[in-house]
Amino acid sequence: MAEFSLKGVNRVRDPENLTDMEKKHLPVIHLPEQVKAGEPFSVSVAVGELLKHPNELSHFINWIALYDAEYTFLGMVTLPPVVAQPRVSFTLTLEEPTTLRAYAFCNLHGLWEGQKQVEFR
Ligand SMILES: [Fe+2]
Repeated sequence: MAEFSLKGVNRVRDPENLTDMEKKHLPVIHLPEQVKAGEPFSVSVAVGELLKHPNELSHFINWIALYDAEYTFLGMVTLPPVVAQPRVSFTLTLEEPTTLRAYAFCNLHGLWEGQKQVEFR
């Protein structure tokens, strides 16, 4: 089986046993310890935290986007190579818990998805 596909969405196949390709491309979502209904909070999404992804003209993370469980668009950041790092922040206000879906696009290795459940505390 190929390590990645340029068609569709690439996702981690076995969370307990990530490949180097998955470690480099998985968008990892970070949430604050406490999220409350109706109150703004920051979400950060980072690519290459587990294993550094290249950041050069010929190979880089081109954009990062965020959606909720129902694919409501929540935001997107376009990233130029070299200077910009693939770590971005969004400020959200949610009325209901959801699963966030982060998407990162690598110019060589396509689209990758990472998810994280938001629970209210
Ligand atoms: Fe890549």
